[in-house]
Amino acid sequence: MAQSCTYVVFGATGNLSMTKLMPAFYHLEKHRRLADDVKILAIGRRDWNREEWLETVKDAVIPKARGGITDDVCERFCQRLDYFKMDILAADEYENLKQHISANHWPTNMAFYLSLGPDQFAPAVEYLGKAGLLKQDSGWRRVVLEKPFGYDAESAKQLQKRLNKHLDEEQTYRIDHYLGKGMVQNLMVFRFANLMMEPLWNRNYIDHIQITHAEDKSVGTRAGYYDTSGAMRDMIQSHLLQLLALVAMEPPASMEAEALRNEKVKLLQSVRPIMKKNVHNQAYRAQYAEGVVNGQTVPAYLQEPDVAEDSVTETYAALKLYIDNWRWAGVPFYIQTGKNMPKNRTIVAIRFKHPPKQFFRESQVKKMEPNWVVFGIQPEESIRIEITAKQPGLEIMTEQTSLDATLKGDDNNTYDAYEELLLDVIKGDRSLFLRYDEVKAAWNVVDPVLQAWAAETAYIDTYPAGTWGPDGAKKLFDHPEQCWRYHY
Ligand code: BG6
Repeated sequence: MAQSCTYVVFGATGNLSMTKLMPAFYHLEKHRRLADDVKILAIGRRDWNREEWLETVKDAVIPKARGGITDDVCERFCQRLDYFKMDILAADEYENLKQHISANHWPTNMAFYLSLGPDQFAPAVEYLGKAGLLKQDSGWRRVVLEKPFGYDAESAKQLQKRLNKHLDEEQTYRIDHYLGKGMVQNLMVFRFANLMMEPLWNRNYIDHIQITHAEDKSVGTRAGYYDTSGAMRDMIQSHLLQLLALVAMEPPASMEAEALRNEKVKLLQSVRPIMKKNVHNQAYRAQYAEGVVNGQTVPAYLQEPDVAEDSVTETYAALKLYIDNWRWAGVPFYIQTGKNMPKNRTIVAIRFKHPPKQFFRESQVKKMEPNWVVFGIQPEESIRIEITAKQPGLEIMTEQTSLDATLKGDDNNTYDAYEELLLDVIKGDRSLFLRYDEVKAAWNVVDPVLQAWAAETAYIDTYPAGTWGPDGAKKLFDHPEQCWRYHY
């Protein structure tokens, strides 16, 4: 059972909190994963009182709970909730916050979850620090920072400098919710709890590795943020480079936070820097045009509310990377992400080389396919190993078949990434959170591409919404046998 804690959620009425954080707390309550004295204090600018907040949660969060709702869980959950109105950019209001917490005699262990815009992280931490809320004399104090951590390597450095004045690294929880996903953790378990693949997991046997994140959703109401960010910053710099690190890193010394993070940093630092002259061979971007997604006609990105009329912000980005170390020299890693694609699908696919000699006659081979190992990250959670086998019958005729493991649990052991991560903050387990040098190394990977794209404001390729992205991205592949894989 987790420890007692006052969880203070800044930006509690915002999109992330209402769609992810509050539901995650509710599910933790449902499965009795929270200690009795965990309090959840929502901070917002709206002039609400506790009752109005409870009504909002009851109307907008609880009805969508996984596996239905029960009155007693709802009641227990609501007892933990409170609301405090404040302007997070007003330094003097933090004193009132402090008094509110102590007047209610809530736990002195405190986690501050900053579900805020990136430019609000530094002031919020400064004001928390000045109000004495980050001092750990009467209990631990931890700060959870949402992504994006900075806008590029330089702004991340400046942000870190400001945080350093008030916050120790061991109090800092830079969240990347992909690390809380069950299948992302399964990548590590598959690699390091099985011996079978390890001898093959290198440049001698692997042709290339692909990471695809496709979403069937548009930017929705988030264009205010997204139009200044784009797919490379929003998905690749954070979530997808984390997937890359986990699939390609060396075995860590242990599964402890520092050992794990050391290996991820080492891997990200080994990515070959993309030179300016290579940006167009190694990166591709595009924007969705009008199209049909799930049977509905959807507008072009440029027609979405809050998008600048001449925006060249990419809603699709693809990248080819090389990792210059002994294990991976010469193996391309292809990464892509896009909004308004036909389906939600995140997969990590490892394509092996062909055997050195082809023994079977052409007439005996239906299709010459290499082996694949494919991790379905979401929505399907699966591991598939594709092999060639002999078809039943007298004659030798080969066919492709697969060994499949479906790993999704039932309601009792299915959880959302945020549930695990919210609990880890209370437990003080930072292994699934990012260290600053990791974030910095990830920015260094994408910065050259972002700089080149920022200078090209006249044109961006488009793809019709509801398709698997622009044809132009295919040019990243090294040879004609390589292509994006979208199925598990
Ligand atoms: C968020 C991005 O971090 O991750 C969103 O800001 C994206 O744009 C989301 O849609 C994807 O997360 P998931 O868990 O739905 O794959």
